[in-house]
Parts: sequence; C-alpha cells; structure tokens
Amino acid sequence: MNFELKPLTLSAAVQQKSDLLLVLVSETDVPGQDALSSVWAQAVKAGDFEAKAGRVLSTYRLPAVQCSRVVFAGIGDASPKSVRQGLQAGLGTVRAEQVKRLLVVLAGGQAAAPVLQALVLAVADATYAYTTTKSKGDGRQLQRVTLAAASLDAPAREAFRRAVATVGGIELAKEWGNRPANHATPTLLAGAAKALATRGSGIQCEVLTPREVARLGMGAFMAVAQGSEEELRFIVLKYQGAARSQAPVVLVGKGITFDTGGISIKPAAEMDEMKFDMCGAASVLGTFRALGELRPDINVVGLIPTCENMPDGRALKPGDVITSMSGQTIEVLNTDAEGRLILCDALSYAERFKPRAVIDIATLTGACVVALGAVRSGLFASDDGLASALQSAGDAAQDLCWRLPLDEDYAEGLKTNFADVANVAGRAGGAITAAKFLQRFAARFPWAHLDIAGTAWKSGSAKGATGRPVGLLLAYLLAAGAEETRPARRPARSRAAGTAAKDAGTA
Ligand code: BES
Ligand code: MN
Ligand code: ZN
Repeated sequence: MNFELKPLTLSAAVQQKSDLLLVLVSETDVPGQDALSSVWAQAVKAGDFEAKAGRVLSTYRLPAVQCSRVVFAGIGDASPKSVRQGLQAGLGTVRAEQVKRLLVVLAGGQAAAPVLQALVLAVADATYAYTTTKSKGDGRQLQRVTLAAASLDAPAREAFRRAVATVGGIELAKEWGNRPANHATPTLLAGAAKALATRGSGIQCEVLTPREVARLGMGAFMAVAQGSEEELRFIVLKYQGAARSQAPVVLVGKGITFDTGGISIKPAAEMDEMKFDMCGAASVLGTFRALGELRPDINVVGLIPTCENMPDGRALKPGDVITSMSGQTIEVLNTDAEGRLILCDALSYAERFKPRAVIDIATLTGACVVALGAVRSGLFASDDGLASALQSAGDAAQDLCWRLPLDEDYAEGLKTNFADVANVAGRAGGAITAAKFLQRFAARFPWAHLDIAGTAWKSGSAKGATGRPVGLLLAYLLAAGAEETRPARRPARSRAAGTAAKDAGTA
C-alpha cells in the first residue's frame, strides 16, 4: 500500500481526483465556509448526520466536487478506537473494487499525531488482503491512500512516518503468519529473513543449519525438529543503528511452522490453525523490516528457532530426556509443549550478545488464551522496568498486553525425578508455568516473555494473522533507542547530596 500525507484544506479537497473522498468529522469540529462544510452542516441540522463514531453520510456527485463519492464519517472523540470505528464505517459504504485511490481528510484541519497513527493503522487493517495462495486476486484495487489535513506539523509527519513503517512490518508479519505451512517452511522463513538484509537497511542475516545447531549443543531445539522431514533453521538477524559497543535488545520469536503436537498429538478440529504457530517469528521479521526503514539509534538482534513439530518414527516420545544448550536436562512429558523447548536454546544463545534486554515472543499456551482472550497478550518479566516499558509501548501502539506473575511457587509442578526440569506442569496456571520454564534459561539478562497465543491471529470467518505484537515491539524499541541517546542523567554525587540535604531537613 502506498501512503501519502498532504496538507489540504476542505475547500482544496474538492479539487482532488480520487475514487472516494472520506471526510472524517470529530465531535469538536466546526464546519467552515466551503462546499463540503455546507453539506455537513445541513445534514447535522436535518438530523441526518452526527459526529458520533460509526455514523456515516454517503453522498454522490455533489456539485463542484471532483470526486463523485463523498462520504462523511463521524470519529467521535478522535480517540484511536473511535478513529478506527469511523474509518471502518466510512469504508464500509463503498465496494472495495471501486476504490483505487482513497482520499481521507480530517475535517477539523488539525492532524494530531495519535490520530494520524490510528488512521494509518486502521486504513491498512481495513484494506489488507491475503492473496499469495489464491489463483486470482480478491478484486481489491486500492493502490494509493492520501491522508490530508489543513495543517501538518513536525510531530504529525514523524507519527505518519512511524505508522507507515509499522504497517509495513505488520503486513509482513501477517503475510508469513497467513501462509500455510507448506508455503512457509523453516527454509522459506529463513529466506524471508535473508531478504530483509538489503543495502542501506542496517540489517544483516545469518542462517544456521542443523549441523551448526548441533555443534552449538542445542539439544532441546533439535529434539523437536527430529520428527519432521523439514530441516530446522536457526535465524540470526542483526540491526545495527548505534555504536557497536552499545548492548543490543534481543528479540526471540517462536518459529514452529506447524504444530501437530507431535506424539502427544492434537485433536483434528482446528488443527489447521497451528500454521500460525510461527507468529512470534513473523513478528520479529516484521519488526526488523520496520527497523530497516526507520533506522533508529539502537542495536537489535533477532533470533528465530524454526522447525515443524511432527509425529514420526524418529519423533520425541513422552518421557524422553534431552539436554539443552544450557546443560540443563529436560524430561519431555508432553511433546505438544514444544515451543518452550526451542525457545530455551535460543535464550541460551542470546547470552553471547551481552544484551540489555531479551524479549521472547511466542504463541506458547492455550492457557493464555483462556486467561486473557484475544484482547491483551500475556506479559511476563523478570525486570520491573522492562515490564512497564513494554506495557506502556503496548498502550501507545494500541497493541495491549497484561502482566502476569512469576512467583517461584508456580515452578513446583515442573519438578521431576528423571531430569533437572520437566517441560510441563499440571493444567492449572499453564501460561505461568510455561513462563517459569523459560525463566530458568533467562537468568543472565533482564528478560520478558510475551505469550501471543490469543492475539496473534483471529479464528472463524475473519481467520487470519493480526500482525501483533509488531506495533508494541516497535514502540518499545523506538522509545528504548531514544532513551539511550538522551544525555546522561544527573551524576550520582549530586543526587546523593540532595538526599543528604533532605535527610538533614527532616531530622
Ligand atoms: N502452539 C501451542 C499453543 C496454542 C494452542 C496456541 C492453542 C494457540 C491456541 C503450544 O505449542 C501448545 O501446544 N501448548 C500446549 C501446552 C501444554 C501441552 C502444556 C497447550 O497450550 O495446550
Ligand atoms: Mn504445541
Ligand atoms: Zn506450539
């Protein structure tokens, strides 16, 4: 999709050629003297239109307006949610096949940064279509979207630039998430990662094969892959936007391209949805695409262990004990708890980067879907600062998460007589016990885990990947990059002096 941002008043908008002119009206907007304002004001007066989010007024061939389809859509209080609702309602009035060029004008004239961000994300979401494995397209024509307001300041332009890059990342994550497993093998996923390392992107990519993974001693990752005819891959992406000396943030994405459950096989119903079990990996790819476009001052490493989880004569069996890269032995009581097995070795591998933070992203547990549904991703963290930074990033990006606990008592069920740790505990608190398992391999750095089992894709008639949590991850990385380059805070000495003075005062 081609997005463009243009300074345009309502009276200038009538001269523009497009297939649909969408005029977004918020509750605080006041009509001006132009032709469009006059229609809007009369419709409000007659009770045929109001600025409430979701209300629309569809018009055709208005005199003196170039574009034959003009739709007024209310965006209420102009909150991200209302903007999305208004935009969806506005677009819903026309057939997608009719619109090649879309012009969206903010009637109030101002383009606040959060409104623009919400608008770009909402347009992209409403007009996205997966076509890769369809023999014909789906009839959609949209090629160019112009967003316009009378005045556009620097923060608005920056918000637009970020939002467009975020959309590119989200769409890449959706694309790979949606591809069926026979069109998204570990090898193909590695190819997609390599394709990100273009000139001028700041991205490098290295792909490890089974032989190299064996040499590293990734026994847990290899054990999951051993039941499949498809070769595993371990993808290492590096984005360098700051000095080499600066510690990177490491993102680790679960890349199970299909999860049958293995010998602990899953029921047939909805098993097709386990093609989405690489959405964590896809979110890492999407985030890197956006990093390459935005070029922020930060270093980021992306790690993707990717393989299939299949039943086979050579597959892992319940009760098998395997040795992870960390040296810890693991009793595999359930071969369907495979995500944590591939992630634990990737977490051990992350140590070599001496990271400032490691964040893993995984469609890890059905229990997380039960706990949080499709609204918020599960967030776990060994570090409070990292947890609150991720939570705020999610809020800012409209890509929400919710922190869950990591009390040591939750690890009780992972104890076994036959290895250092078991890969499953009981049914209770399943999202948390999975996180407790991972935490054993993340002791050497600040660590967070995002369980996206409920948020990475939608089921039912709207079945498809959501691209989450690319928005959250990018917002976090951009904020972390800005923090790193900010001048150092006050030296400890003066702070200590301040404390001493305060203590003296209260004594
Ligand atoms: N990929 C699944 C998690 C999943 C299941 C995500 C359903 C979304 C919807 C994961 O590998 C898995 O199978 N987890 C098991 C763990 C259990 C065996 C402890 C689960 O959640 O049932
Ligand atoms: Mn599984
Ligand atoms: Zn899985």
